[in-house]
Amino acid sequence: MTEFTRRFVQIEADSFLSLREDRAPLPGAEELLIEVRAAGINRGDLLQRKGLYPPPPDASPIMGLEVSGTVLACGEAVSGWEPGDTVCALTHGGGYASHAIAPQEQCLPVPRACSLEEAAALPEALLTVWHNVFQRAGLKRGERILIHGGASGIGTLAVAICRALGAEVYSTAGTDEKCRRIEALGATRAFNYRQEDFADALEAMDLANSMHVILDMVGGDFIQKNLRVAAPEGRIANIAYLRGFTTEVNFAPMLIKRLTMTGSTLRAQSRQQKARMISEILEHVYEHLDSGAVKPVVDRCFALDEVNEAQAYMESGAHMGKILLLPG
Ligand SMILES: NC(=O)c1ccc[n+]([C@@H]2O[C@H](COP(=O)([O-])OP(=O)(O)OC[C@H]3O[C@@H](n4cnc5c(N)ncnc54)[C@H](OP(=O)(O)O)[C@@H]3O)[C@@H](O)[C@H]2O)c1
Repeated sequence: MTEFTRRFVQIEADSFLSLREDRAPLPGAEELLIEVRAAGINRGDLLQRKGLYPPPPDASPIMGLEVSGTVLACGEAVSGWEPGDTVCALTHGGGYASHAIAPQEQCLPVPRACSLEEAAALPEALLTVWHNVFQRAGLKRGERILIHGGASGIGTLAVAICRALGAEVYSTAGTDEKCRRIEALGATRAFNYRQEDFADALEAMDLANSMHVILDMVGGDFIQKNLRVAAPEGRIANIAYLRGFTTEVNFAPMLIKRLTMTGSTLRAQSRQQKARMISEILEHVYEHLDSGAVKPVVDRCFALDEVNEAQAYMESGAHMGKILLLPG
């Protein structure tokens, strides 16, 4: 198999990020080697950099959970992919690089309405949204969903997918401008959490006890308000707790409304679980990606050697949607 030189981002002892070179890894039997066109930045990467979200022992120590690009080589047991194909993929780490490895069952075709760069914004958000909103919380056509963090990489895609699959979407974000853009993506209303209490605002709209599903990355004081606005038999899925893991909660609404609270991290799940998510996404979401009804929102692209600036931009919270690294 041809060998390639790889440029990758190394986390230095002082958490500064620098570029290094080595020989690109060879794909295992069921893996693809991808020449990376773009890599998605995720908030978890910021935690990994600070040592607060260590990669699993069998994962690449290099940051980067998702890439798009061109297949350079396939392991001997790979079927359905060949060198020259374009692809977007969930990696097992290692995405902040010119070359990345992905298991074949974590690879997806580039949707017809997406550029190769845009496709890098999809895998992590697609799997996270599908797993939490549809597999865990069981959102159905005609139901109402409240999506916190609607301006995030995860939130923007969640709003568009839920709308395309027939749900009525409400959301929260930190500026009026972000709220209006979330509404343009398909939300009926987005509330500026810095200026209004979303639970009061929903009640004022006659939407007390009306959210069938809540996708929450915020936690903290939002937990009590989620219990308040949830519909009877409502399902609340947490993917993060950016306002805090701990808070005092009155759980009476849980009993009275028969609510379900759940949560998960994507990274810890098995290859088989991720493969099931991907096959359901291909069946239910891809037609909307191919038609362009659902499109990833890409805020800014940075060159690989601007990775420190790119992560600082995410940390600032000024972005809306995804931030990409372009190694080329
Ligand atoms: N569990 C999983 O499997 C999984 C997978 C992927 C991501 N995640 C998590 O999902 C979250 C989004 O990821 P991302 O990469 O899309 O990040 P991101 O684009 O940086 O988004 C962060 C979001 O959190 C919101 N936010 C931050 N602090 C807040 C606060 N104090 N109150 C209310 N909202 C607040 C921001 O809202 P504004 O910008 O509107 O202020 C923004 O929408 C992250 O926490 C990430 O770790 C979890």
